[in-house]
Amino acid sequence: MCNRRLSRGYDIRGDHRRTGPGDKRLPGALYTHAYMAVQISPSILSSDFARLAEEAAAVASVADWLHVDVMDYHFVPNLTLGLPVVQALLKHTSLPLDCHLMIDDPDRWAPSYAEAGARNVTIHAEATHAPVRTLRMIRAAGARAGLALNPGTAVEPYEDLLPEVDMLLLMTVEPGFGGQAFLDMVLPKLRRARAMIKRNDAAVWLQVDGGVSDETIERCAEAGADVFVAGSAVYDADDPERAVRGLRSRAEAATQRAPWTAAS
Ligand code: DX5
Ligand code: ZN
Repeated sequence: MCNRRLSRGYDIRGDHRRTGPGDKRLPGALYTHAYMAVQISPSILSSDFARLAEEAAAVASVADWLHVDVMDYHFVPNLTLGLPVVQALLKHTSLPLDCHLMIDDPDRWAPSYAEAGARNVTIHAEATHAPVRTLRMIRAAGARAGLALNPGTAVEPYEDLLPEVDMLLLMTVEPGFGGQAFLDMVLPKLRRARAMIKRNDAAVWLQVDGGVSDETIERCAEAGADVFVAGSAVYDADDPERAVRGLRSRAEAATQRAPWTAAS
């Protein structure tokens, strides 16, 4: 089970806010191991919205998170679901929710998702006007705080924000729709983001979202990602559980041989 494996480094089902690969409370020996842990976050955007609880259950025994794409038809040209659906879903799944807010006013809404019980809440750098305040409010409400960057947004300006962030999400498609083609152009930025995290010895996970599949997940892991969102690759598969297992084993193998995990 994934939670047993991850519990060697940190408790994925426990306190999602302050534990993590770079958590300073972890002994050194565990730090290195946990740094290399792969997490898979299936996106329900590609699932059957009329059967969300069953679709969540379909991956509950193999996934680490359930990725929930909140879209408002303003920040992105698509409309999905909002706080009431997240509140309802929380009552019907054992998986921690990884809420990705693709909305115009995350400063107004993000803390409510954390208060509702989402274990991770990610806001977009392009949409927030007060990232420090909003990220702190997410953490204060008990969730992990994520910061997302679109493919065309540089990561370097956010280096000083790393202490405020639990997860950096680099979009590998333009946000808005599932099933788009993976953008290889993001890979150099992924490498730079991983180097930035290492340089700062930051307790920050590095997530990729968009076009992640059997064909692309190894490239992401080699470049530095450790949390992988996959929508169509999981929910369009005949067997979603098997798809998650396959993605995890490819990502783990690629992580083992990745330059960024080599002892320095
Ligand atoms: C897209 C969303 C993604 C989407 C990914 O804007 O943020 O989470 O579900 O879908 P796939 O994996 O099909 O590209
Ligand atoms: Zn997403």
